[in-house]
Amino acid sequence: MDIISWLAKNRQYFSKELNGYVNPPSGPYLSILPLIDRGGKILELGSGNGMLLKFLMKFSGHKITPFGIDRKKNVITMAKKEILPNYKDNFTVSDVVDYDFENGSFDIIITNPFYAKPNMRDFTKKCLENLNTSGRLIYAVPNDVLKSNGMIGLNDVKDFKGLNMRISKGFDLSFGIFDK
Ligand SMILES: C[S@@+](CC[C@H](N)C(=O)[O-])C[C@H]1O[C@@H](n2cnc3c(N)ncnc32)[C@H](O)[C@@H]1O
Repeated sequence: MDIISWLAKNRQYFSKELNGYVNPPSGPYLSILPLIDRGGKILELGSGNGMLLKFLMKFSGHKITPFGIDRKKNVITMAKKEILPNYKDNFTVSDVVDYDFENGSFDIIITNPFYAKPNMRDFTKKCLENLNTSGRLIYAVPNDVLKSNGMIGLNDVKDFKGLNMRISKGFDLSFGIFDK
């Protein structure tokens, strides 16, 4: 099945409440796909109901073991029961700032650092420490979040100054990529 048909078929799993989307997010999801250049353990901090992880498992072409953290209990319950039941033990209700990375190190971590505001620098350090030796941290920040924080791009974020972050643009998103 092609990506657009898959998103349409799964339309009922996208909403403001479940993952912040009014419509299936073809643009954002397609722009994240090329950044997933390897398989392994992928953790999304702020995973919603797990649809992005499910999408990446199906369309990245890599063998992925998904992990998700979200502070909303109902979306984690949906991830465990309906979206990724084979990986139910990998989904946890927690605030991303308190999360203790008990599942060990990851090959890729995906998140939006603004969830950890105002501690974005400490949060970045913690994420990097919990990557495998050649792991990748992907920051995916909606452009409207940057705008509402008075910023145009991720290079305007003071907390990231001096860090080895590569910036790129996606559909409605700005990416910050850290390769270890
Ligand atoms: C836009 S949704 C993520 C959607 C997901 N990336 C996708 O594409 O399917 C953002 C999620 O982050 C969660 N979130 C925001 N701040 C958080 C925090 N401090 N700790 C844990 N989860 C958080 C929200 O509850 C929400 O479910």
